[in-house]
Amino acid sequence: MTERRINAGILGTGHYLPPHILTNEELAQRVDTSDEWITSRTGIHARRIAAADVPVTALAEPAARMALADAGIEADAIDLIIFATLTPDRVIPAAACELQRRLGAVHAAAFDLSAACSGFVYAAAVACQFIEAGIYRHVLVIGAEELSKVVDWQDRGTCILFGDGAGAAVFGPVSAGLGALAFDLGADGSQGEALTIPASGSLHPVTEERLRAGENFIHMDGKAVFRFAVTVMGKTVETSLARAGLTKDALDWLVPHQANIRIIEAAAKRLGLPLAQVIINIENYGNMSAASIPVALSEAAHAHRFRRGDRIALAGFGAGLTWASCILRWAKED
Ligand code: ACO
Repeated sequence: MTERRINAGILGTGHYLPPHILTNEELAQRVDTSDEWITSRTGIHARRIAAADVPVTALAEPAARMALADAGIEADAIDLIIFATLTPDRVIPAAACELQRRLGAVHAAAFDLSAACSGFVYAAAVACQFIEAGIYRHVLVIGAEELSKVVDWQDRGTCILFGDGAGAAVFGPVSAGLGALAFDLGADGSQGEALTIPASGSLHPVTEERLRAGENFIHMDGKAVFRFAVTVMGKTVETSLARAGLTKDALDWLVPHQANIRIIEAAAKRLGLPLAQVIINIENYGNMSAASIPVALSEAAHAHRFRRGDRIALAGFGAGLTWASCILRWAKED
């Protein structure tokens, strides 16, 4: 790899989950499903649901404040906020701008990034480029979602999978040899129809008829996404490892997107990692799209599971279809 003058890495992490818990048993009273079916097919036991009047930026704010405190910096030291989400408060203004206001991050540029469940890793890659180029020093990266508001609660094929939450990380300069070593970002737009919200933009503007048809909710070909994910999760980590000049046995941890325990197990198997080295919280939260990876990362970091110098792979996939992975050498002192 070429010599870099500045290395970018994580200075602090944070997360926030709305307090209301929706269990499989409660869901089984609404749609024709069972705890046994959901648990055995997905590994999910419960998910968090935000209140109707709480927007996604209200989940992101405490996650961001926790990450800032962990990094030991004030909000006015943030140069850029990148907010990865598919459920912003509104299409405009960007959720990143509203979060900037909430935090008082008056010096920060702010934009949203749309790569669905791969969004946090895509955003981390962007953050690291700005830091390594010497343009910005502190970049706040958010992955936050309220999928409960774009899910059809009558559709048992999707409503069992998703939940709400927010994760955050402050990226900044770290010592030589630590931080982000390599990324792999990808997309296959030819498979885009596998996971869409049909009436959500300029292709099919929302009309009463489309609302009646439920086109404002997530529509998913679960089998197609599953097939794609089962291969791509392990493969993208292998690509990132190769770019970092490392082999699989160098990996200490995998922090995967939490969509389905069977997809996570397949990735771990391909990478030769025991599940004890995989950060898994899907049973508590389900799939929180862009929030899944940063929440898992932050929970593990604050549980002191990582040591300085550990090699950690972040890996996600999602609508687009997209995929993304990153190899980090953990830079924080425990
Ligand atoms: N409860 C009970 N039965 C159900 C349920 C349910 N909640 N959902 C489906 N079934 C039924 C089906 O109707 C089907 O019945 P049939 O055989 O009589 O037709 C049977 O169970 C099997 O259904 P499948 O769809 O084949 O179940 P599968 O094992 O594929 O699991 C699942 C479905 C969990 C959705 C799986 O395909 C999956 O995890 N796919 C990946 C989804 C994913 O990760 N999406 C998120 C991407 S991230 C993003 O960007 C938002």
